[in-house]
Amino acid sequence: MKLPILVTRRLPSSVMTRLDAACEVEHFEGHGAMPHDELVARVAGKHGLVSLVTDVVDRPVIEAGTDLRVIANVAVGYNNIDVAAASERGIIITNTPDVLTDATADLTLALILAVTRRLGEGERMVRRGDWKGWAFDQLLGMQLRGRQLGVVGFGRIGQAVAARAAAFGMTIAHSSRSGSGMPLDRLLSTSDIVSLHVPLTPETRHLIGQPELARMKRSAYLINTTRGPVVDEAALAWALKNRLIAGAGLDVYEREPEVHADLLSLENVVLAPHLGSATTETRTAMADLAAGNVIAVLGGQPPLTPVA
Ligand code: DGY
Repeated sequence: MKLPILVTRRLPSSVMTRLDAACEVEHFEGHGAMPHDELVARVAGKHGLVSLVTDVVDRPVIEAGTDLRVIANVAVGYNNIDVAAASERGIIITNTPDVLTDATADLTLALILAVTRRLGEGERMVRRGDWKGWAFDQLLGMQLRGRQLGVVGFGRIGQAVAARAAAFGMTIAHSSRSGSGMPLDRLLSTSDIVSLHVPLTPETRHLIGQPELARMKRSAYLINTTRGPVVDEAALAWALKNRLIAGAGLDVYEREPEVHADLLSLENVVLAPHLGSATTETRTAMADLAAGNVIAVLGGQPPLTPVA
């Protein structure tokens, strides 16, 4: 018998076909994120939920889903899910590690290059019609070779970023939750670029605030492709405005899709709209892995990539 599941948006057709073959699938047909009250209403009676990073799967959702056995998040991060509430009810939570490592590491390098070579500023200048032609000292940036990249959080993505940066001739320092590598304070004060790759947890919320930014070199850059609340965005905007650090490359924000107003007018920050895993190949692989998790659990098999 096919068990009913809810998918919070239509996934690539190969994945929908796979899910349809194994489950009774209902999906949200609207644009953007599924409204929370609709999620609460439609999760009732479902045995599986395929959620996205924009879905707040909190206690009310979990309590409404009295038949839920698995929540498969189409993301490696799962801070959008109340893990404690799900675990209390024996619901399995899965994520999508590995398949997005390369895409996210690539985007991290894109931000590093964009901010250190002042691509955003240059692009805006060209589009405004202000470019008067090649000039010897125009928009000079920072060369990567010989510079130190400080990787905060040395899991799969942090290591993939380090490998790419090494190919650009950078030296690598890292600091990790397991205690390996450099103490965070030392990494901050010695690195030319600091790139964040820790998951968002109560311990990492505002890991980088005013004191940490003050510890960084005035010539250094901060890159965030993990979760917005790992950085105190107001403190970062102040630091960029007052040139406490040289620049930043951001893919994530504290209150997405809102971006701190001061950041929008600053030239020394590159702002991307949460694109870390946004390649067709990667998003399809993420959706497929989430589908595989739901099918495994509802078929009585162990989940492929459980987090709790
Ligand atoms: C993730 O997987 O956590 C990403 O942020 C979603 O794109």
